[in-house]
Amino acid sequence: MKIAIYPGTFDPITNGHLDILERALRLFDKVIITIARNPSKNPLFTEVERLAMIREALQTYKGVEVDAFDGLLVEYARKKGATAVVRGLRAISDFEYELQMALMNRRLNDDLVTVFLMPNEKYTYLNSSIVREIARHHGDVRDFVPPSVLERLHEKIRHASPT
Ligand code: COA
Repeated sequence: MKIAIYPGTFDPITNGHLDILERALRLFDKVIITIARNPSKNPLFTEVERLAMIREALQTYKGVEVDAFDGLLVEYARKKGATAVVRGLRAISDFEYELQMALMNRRLNDDLVTVFLMPNEKYTYLNSSIVREIARHHGDVRDFVPPSVLERLHEKIRHASPT
């Protein structure tokens, strides 16, 4: 059984992430989409909320596990029996950071292969910060996130902005 890890912050999960996940599912028997707990990030959504949004968005998907982890990705992958890490490459600007991570992960565990997948071009300019920013200013993000995320985003923004 070929298992891949799809790690990220997912604050929140977007249609771009789902696009990458769907492509990964064509290559692997199982994909573990997992939230990396990163103390240096200050996410808008709690881990519990992010996990719930991922689960809601993936209700009809087969072969996916949803999880969160602490520590090194290579150790987590080893524990899970995964042989690959999936990352999305949207633009040249992603490349340097991704190359550094992939090479360092390879240095830490040469058995773990990083696989880069390109999302549909309509998602190449998308990231979670830009979605949060548009939503904060009451812009329309319907085309960029799954419906469950849209609802929670609106709710979060309503509670954050005193009117
Ligand atoms: N569609 C839309 N947006 C995407 C995307 C896609 N397909 N792929 C990535 N993004 C966006 C994310 O939304 C995020 O946006 P933001 O910064 O505006 O919030 C941004 O790209 C960063 O991507 P993300 O996938 O969340 O990665 P990350 O940089 O937060 O996390 C880890 C990278 C989790 C893989 C890395 O930190 C890690 O492995 N951590 C564990 C500790 C470890 O092993 N460290 C050593 C690594 S060498």
